[in-house]
Amino acid sequence: MQLETATILEHRDYGAGYRLLRLAAPQIAPQVQPGQFVHLRVPRLEGCVLRRPFSVYKAADGVLEVLYKAIGRGTAVLGAALAGEKISALGPLGHGFPLDLPAGRVPVLVAGGYGMAALYLLAKRLPLTGVVFVGGRSAPDILCVEEFEKLGWKVRIATEDGSRGVCGLVTGPLEAWLAEGRGQGMPEFFACGPNGLLEVVGQRALAGDWRAWLSVDRHMCCGVGACLTCVVKLKDSDGAWVWARSCKEGPVFECRQIHWDRAEEEA
Ligand SMILES: Cc1cc2nc3c(=O)[nH]c(=O)nc-3n(C[C@H](O)[C@H](O)[C@H](O)COP(=O)(O)OP(=O)(O)OC[C@H]3O[C@@H](n4cnc5c(N)ncnc54)[C@H](O)[C@@H]3O)c2cc1C
Ligand code: FES
Repeated sequence: MQLETATILEHRDYGAGYRLLRLAAPQIAPQVQPGQFVHLRVPRLEGCVLRRPFSVYKAADGVLEVLYKAIGRGTAVLGAALAGEKISALGPLGHGFPLDLPAGRVPVLVAGGYGMAALYLLAKRLPLTGVVFVGGRSAPDILCVEEFEKLGWKVRIATEDGSRGVCGLVTGPLEAWLAEGRGQGMPEFFACGPNGLLEVVGQRALAGDWRAWLSVDRHMCCGVGACLTCVVKLKDSDGAWVWARSCKEGPVFECRQIHWDRAEEEA
């Protein structure tokens, strides 16, 4: 983990309310593993010392890229940062996705929202290609498809309004693919997106006795394991539950570890 003063190289609209932020971060970038995140201090965010967590979309040659959507005050103010400005970055943080797949596995990526950006580095670094399922409300919400295809991945799309791919939830094309024979191998799932999507992927993996690596999204304050704002419930070996810090022990957990508590998630 490094604390680095990064320089903004590029900051532009990416479409569908997303912005692409490219940072010169020569200390952090070479260390990033897929699924890890950086904790950025938003320049000129008056009266707020807390950083904001973002998954690393790309990391190469000393440069980090983040793809983010403005959803609140921090990300709105971040949107005004200009190329050439400095930004304090802490990272890489957390435990990401495993890259060593057992023989005979087919990697299956499932994404919603910024999940496509969070899974791109994984697709790039896994030793074999597979299939990506991506869902969104409407066509513009579907990010990075061409980039996955350039890496040789098959991409299956679902939109709730039917404006791109299959009409409905991403689980529709996923179930169809599983029923068709799932690419002649045993699926190994990797997912990033809303909690509902993670839960469905986790349940599907459990039903098939497959593994699913899920990147959970929790509010984070410190990002380094000190404040406990980001805790998730994990099952312990006796079937009871224990707290784990998603910034430190996660954000990626195997679905068997997670203790889903729907009532609490929806509260
Ligand atoms: C490990 C991790 C990786 C992430 N990667 C990305 C990414 O690559 N791209 C991206 O666009 N976003 C990503 N996020 C989400 C991003 O951190 C939040 O959107 C951001 O912190 C919101 O800050 P804000 O000040 O704009 O919003 P706030 O003003 O703090 O909040 C606005 C609204 O969003 C809710 N909110 C804030 N943070 C979260 C959160 N983490 N999860 C769910 N709801 C939240 C608040 O409750 C509030 O309703 C990631 C989050 C985590 C934990
Ligand atoms: S964000 Fe502080 S412990 Fe995880």
